[in-house]
Amino acid sequence: MENIFFSLSELKSCGKNVIIGKTVRIRYPQFVEIGDNVIIDDFTYISTSLKLHDNVHISSGCKIIGGKNAFVEMCEFSTLAPNVVLSAGSDDYLSGIATPLVPLEFKGNFKIGKIKLNKHCIVGSGSVVLPDVIFEEGACLGALSLANKNIPEYTLYAGIPAYKVKVRNKSEITKLEKKYKNYE
Ligand SMILES: CC(C)(COP(=O)(O)OP(=O)(O)OC[C@H]1O[C@@H](n2cnc3c(N)ncnc32)[C@H](O)[C@@H]1OP(=O)(O)O)[C@@H](O)C(=O)NCCC(=O)NCCS
Repeated sequence: MENIFFSLSELKSCGKNVIIGKTVRIRYPQFVEIGDNVIIDDFTYISTSLKLHDNVHISSGCKIIGGKNAFVEMCEFSTLAPNVVLSAGSDDYLSGIATPLVPLEFKGNFKIGKIKLNKHCIVGSGSVVLPDVIFEEGACLGALSLANKNIPEYTLYAGIPAYKVKVRNKSEITKLEKKYKNYE
């Protein structure tokens, strides 16, 4: 089904076997790169520069925001559950005016940053990730959580702000990845 907001040909690049919902809105398609086997589900809104590697899933209703000078990267096998917010840019909540149409000198120390999800990361439903947070390989965030600092590899964090809850099974996940790559 054709997307109602933009043409796939406007994307910086788009791989094979990519499904993008009809109502996915991408503000700057010329700054968005998409690998193979990627799904972006309906009602997702994207207003950053973005690089999606192969085998990435963005579930319905996600927001990837911060403006075209902010950058988000999702590496292979990383996923966002429904209603996640990746906020690679953020206003100054203490000493700035937050509305977008005031000149920059009134906005205080607003941030334009990056968010990176390395391989095998999962962000649970309704969670928020702040600018300049890196999920190391296999890092995971539970539902309804706030990530305001980096999450170490193969660790499950949850809560507001997020704290370490459990350790993931790195060897099992690595084994499954190898099996899948041979299966392809
Ligand atoms: C984080 C999660 C994976 C943990 O599941 P689990 O391994 O069964 O963990 P447990 O339920 O044993 O909880 C372990 C601890 O973390 C806490 N915890 C679990 N999930 C939490 C969350 N989302 N926020 C805050 N704390 C959480 C529990 O209260 C418990 O704390 P305690 O040890 O002090 O009692 C799960 O709770 C979750 O949030 N899953 C996200 C699911 C989702 O979004 N799915 C959408 C479709 S993919």
